[in-house]
Amino acid sequence: MQIFVNEMPLKRRIAYLKSKGKTIGFVPTMGALHKGHLSLIEKSNFRCDITVCSIFVNPTQFNNKEDLVNYPITIEEDISKLKNANTDILFKPTERVIYPPDTNLDVEIDLEGLDNLWEGKFRPGHFKGVVQVVKRLLDLVQPDFLFMGQKDFQQFTIINMMLEKLNMATKLIVVPIYREKDGLAMSSRNIRLTKKFREKSTILYKSLVFAKSVYGVKTPEEIESTAIRMIKDQGLNPEYFKIVNGETLRSVVSVSDNFVIAIVAAWAGNVRLIDNIIIKHEK
Ligand code: PAJ
Repeated sequence: MQIFVNEMPLKRRIAYLKSKGKTIGFVPTMGALHKGHLSLIEKSNFRCDITVCSIFVNPTQFNNKEDLVNYPITIEEDISKLKNANTDILFKPTERVIYPPDTNLDVEIDLEGLDNLWEGKFRPGHFKGVVQVVKRLLDLVQPDFLFMGQKDFQQFTIINMMLEKLNMATKLIVVPIYREKDGLAMSSRNIRLTKKFREKSTILYKSLVFAKSVYGVKTPEEIESTAIRMIKDQGLNPEYFKIVNGETLRSVVSVSDNFVIAIVAAWAGNVRLIDNIIIKHEK
């Protein structure tokens, strides 16, 4: 595995590989890698000739300073996991490489309000930072395919809108949520859970499965309030539990909506967790 920190050597390498007709898959991450991240690498390896992974803890997407300071960094383990997973290139830029001084990297696109819903409401400015860093990384890596997790449903929905609105040549591929045996969605933040909250956190997946099982029998409002109660009963503090349209991320209009998901965010002690489930997706 080759490791690049700076812009020019990475760009030269990618240009060379492309000149040889290789397809490039890209998996952007913030490190503290787990099996969820590695499932994205695996998908990219399967689909593309070359897999590039980036590790960059992007400060502009953290609305909460404490979360940024506490964000786990496990770079040695990450490198060995990436090698074992047959990653071809690791891009591990410094902040100066991503955000060179006196350079405006704001992405001026209308996200049609998607950035102000759910995660955007509870984490103001978060998606502006995500869009900015992903656009910058895509400009550097120029991949054919971008692999992102369903775990961050709103994130990939927004990035897809960005790709479309900017007419970018990269195609987004969404990879299903990788879960622990007991259902908890893998997340870099899980290692910060106390033993008690680690056990209680399984309620998130249980509440999502419950929602899916009663959708169409009970109203979305009934399901949401029952799910919120289930989560609170376990001592977690929910921020939202919503049944929404999988494209607009707004409330489902009627039972005839053909793409429906349930999304949830909750605090387990001082760790904020998110999760979701696809309730139905008829094409
Ligand atoms: P990070 O949280 O490190 O996640 C990197 C990628 O891994 C994202 O696409 C995320 O959806 C995916 N992922 C996380 N947990 C997963 C799971 N359990 N199963 C499958 N995929 C999972 O998301 C970010 O970093 C950042 O916002 C980033 C896009 C890198 C921009 O800074």
